Amino acid sequence: MPKLNENYLNLKESYLFSEIAHRVSEYTKANPDKKVIRLGIGDVTRPLSENVIAALHEGVDAMASSDTFKGYGPEQGYEFLRNAISEYYKKNGVDVEPKAIFISDGAKSDTGNITDIFGNDNVIMIPDPVYPVYVDSNIMCGRNNIVYISATADNNFLPMPDRSVHADLIYICSPNNPTGAIYNHEQLKEWVDYALENEAVILFDSAYEAFISDPSLPRSIYAIEGAKKCAIEFCSLSKTAGFTGTRCGYTVVPTELVFKASNGKEMSLNAMWNRRQSTKFNGTSYIVQNGAAAVFTDEGMAQCQENIKFYQENAKIIASVLDKKGIRYFGGVHSPYIWFECPNGMDSWTFFDYLLNNAQVVGTPGAGFGENGKNFFRLTAFGGRENTIEAMERFDKLF
Ligand code: MLT
Repeated sequence: MPKLNENYLNLKESYLFSEIAHRVSEYTKANPDKKVIRLGIGDVTRPLSENVIAALHEGVDAMASSDTFKGYGPEQGYEFLRNAISEYYKKNGVDVEPKAIFISDGAKSDTGNITDIFGNDNVIMIPDPVYPVYVDSNIMCGRNNIVYISATADNNFLPMPDRSVHADLIYICSPNNPTGAIYNHEQLKEWVDYALENEAVILFDSAYEAFISDPSLPRSIYAIEGAKKCAIEFCSLSKTAGFTGTRCGYTVVPTELVFKASNGKEMSLNAMWNRRQSTKFNGTSYIVQNGAAAVFTDEGMAQCQENIKFYQENAKIIASVLDKKGIRYFGGVHSPYIWFECPNGMDSWTFFDYLLNNAQVVGTPGAGFGENGKNFFRLTAFGGRENTIEAMERFDKLF
C-alpha cells in the first residue's frame, strides 16, 4: 500500500470555490425554474478584447504551416512576451529585467507551486482573511508553522508588521482578495523593511493591479526600494485581460534574491525557480502567449481598461445598494471585490444560504478566506451588467 500524503487530512474537505459550486449545483437541481445569479467566484464575463482575439488567431495560423509551427517552447516563456511584460513594468515606473519574468498558466498555479523552492521549517506569515491557496498549498506539504496576521475592520484590512514576531515567508495580496484593501507606498515600505530585517521573502500577489485607478498607489512590490532583495511577485492576465479561461500569468523572481544554504553555498531563487519550472512545466502554449503579448500593446491596454471600467461600474452599482441599506463595506474601488458585513448578525455561510434561497444570488462567504471573514461576505463586480443590477435589486428587497 502506498504511503499517502496525510497532510491532506489537515485540509478542509473541499476547496472554497468547489464547495460553493457544489452547493449552487444542489440548489439548481432542486429548483430548476429559478434564475440563479452568480457573483461568487471572481470570474470575468466580458469577452477577450479584439486585438487579443486577432493575436490568438494568428497564433493558431502559425501552427498550420511548417515554417511557423511551434513545438515545445521555452519553459520560462517566449522572449517576446517576457520583453513585453518588462516594458509594461517600465511604463508603470518599475524596472524588471526579462530574465526575472517566468510565464505560466496563471497566478494560482504559481502561488501554489512556489512552495517547491522553500524548505519545510519556515515560519510562514499569512493574512487572515486572504485568498485560500496560500494556506492550503502550505498545508499540503506539511508546513503548519503558520503565523496569521489579523486583517480586520479596525486596521482597514491592512495588517502591518509586528516586529516582535519573526517570519521567513510573508504572503501579501494587494489589492487584496477578498477585502479589496490596498497598501500604499509607505505601508509596503514597512513590509519590505521588515522582510529585509528578517531575511524573509515576501510572496506578493498583484493579480488585481490593473484595477488600481490612483497612480500614487503601488501596482508592484518592486515600486518599493529594496524589494528586489526580498520579494517574488505573482501576476496574472485573468483579471487584467479576461484570461480566466484562456490561462496566462507570470511570476517575477529577481536575480538579486540569493540566500545562503546550510552548507554555506549561495542559492539563487531565480535559478531554483528556473530549475523547478524546467523540470515540472513545459511552458504556456504559444497560441496563448501570442494572445497575451497583444494585451501589452497600447491598443490592448486601452481595450482592457474599457473592460475594467465596466467592472468598476458594476462595483458602484453594488456599493450603492449597500450604502442605501447602511451596510458597512470595504473595497470596490481599486478592486473588483466588495467585502461587506453580513446583515442582521448572520455568519457568512448562513448568509450565503439565505441569499441563495431567498434571492437566488451567489456570493462568497468570508469564512472561506479565514477566521476573520466569518461575519463578512464578498460579491464580485465581474458579472454582466443586467445580472448585477438584477442581483442588487433582489438584494435590496430582501431586508
Ligand atoms: C476568486 O474568486 O477569489 C478568484 O477568482 C479565484 C482565483 O483567482 O483563483
